Amino acid sequence: MIIKNIGLLAGIQPEGVLRVEGPAQGQTGMLENAWLAIEDGRIAGFGEMDVMPGTDRTSIDARGGMLMPGFCDSHTHIVYAGSRDGEFLDKINGLSYEEIAARGGGILNSADLLHKTTERALYRQSLARVREMMDKGTVALEIKSGYGLNPADELKMLRVIRRIRESVPAAVKATFLGAHAIGRGYTHESYVQAVIDMIPQAAEYADFIDVFCDEGFFTVEDTDRILTAAGHLLTPKIHANELAVSGGVQVGVKHGALSVDHLERTTDAEIEALKGTWTMPTMLPGSSFFLGLPYGRAKDFIKAGLGVALASDYNPGSSPSGDMRFVMALGCIRMRLTPVEAFNAVTLNGAYAMGVSEQYGSITIGKKAALILTQPGWDLTKLAYQYQTPFIRKVFY
Ligand code: NIG
Ligand code: FE
Repeated sequence: MIIKNIGLLAGIQPEGVLRVEGPAQGQTGMLENAWLAIEDGRIAGFGEMDVMPGTDRTSIDARGGMLMPGFCDSHTHIVYAGSRDGEFLDKINGLSYEEIAARGGGILNSADLLHKTTERALYRQSLARVREMMDKGTVALEIKSGYGLNPADELKMLRVIRRIRESVPAAVKATFLGAHAIGRGYTHESYVQAVIDMIPQAAEYADFIDVFCDEGFFTVEDTDRILTAAGHLLTPKIHANELAVSGGVQVGVKHGALSVDHLERTTDAEIEALKGTWTMPTMLPGSSFFLGLPYGRAKDFIKAGLGVALASDYNPGSSPSGDMRFVMALGCIRMRLTPVEAFNAVTLNGAYAMGVSEQYGSITIGKKAALILTQPGWDLTKLAYQYQTPFIRKVFY
């Protein structure tokens, strides 16, 4: 198949570029008036229209639309049951995320709802959210457990994630987040041990392990124990520095985390700790927006030579949206990223942060043709600027 009359082909990278950092985060390859060929679901070639090869392949006329890599959302909690709209009212009335959690709301509320929900219903509710994300241009996503908080319910979540992976054309990566909150009926100490005991079974389903290393949840010592136990079974991706400067970045780096996520509160020490590592700092501006938290210092990270990914954090408590174009817009509007920096953060660097950037995240020959074709007249700046106007004509997987 060949897509012709592409107004702007955006996000071109040479083979082998798995993430962009520092000044490279502000650059991406673009081609105007282009064609792109797809063979067996992969990008087989692209170039300018005046040198389009003669072909008997089926062609799609892009009619001047932009063709770009689909969004790669490296941090979601979209497998959950029901809703937390009751807490939304508490929040409007002025309670903080921590206060809502302390009153029995928050993650434990979702765990109770999930416990009461059948696996089938959980799958159906979650799949609807995945489809919603796909309709908005997401082609690869990570999904965490962490609303089970006991062995049976954590496994129920991991099975649902596996089933979603088998049912959709988008790429799905699974993360075991047993250490999301202390499960009911456990002490802090007995729950940390329970999480450690769950690891071997979770590793049959999950690609990654996560710990909510933050004030009031899990300490650096807990995180260190859990990640030591995970050893080579599961690569870490850590929740860190959302509620406090937690030490989560440093313990994540120590264990070779693929990403450290949230980072609403960071000092220069976190930036230093990340230099020269393979860990991708990942910020979640949708939860800063929803909870009224500070936005991460993405610009400072990039100035220090690091790369930054942005993800949706789609979950019922701190970010009930999986709209990656909105995430990109928040990156520009609230974090002062340039449109290209934000674009790289929601495509290539997001793909890197969940270990799929060899296949996803850029226009590169051999990568999956997981692409968004827009309506005519769009470019990367307009994408973030005109952030509510419908723009998608078709998503390819
Ligand atoms: O990433 N911060 C921890 N976990 C989620 C929120 C989970 C919830 O409130 O249900 C987050 O924001
Ligand atoms: Fe999260």
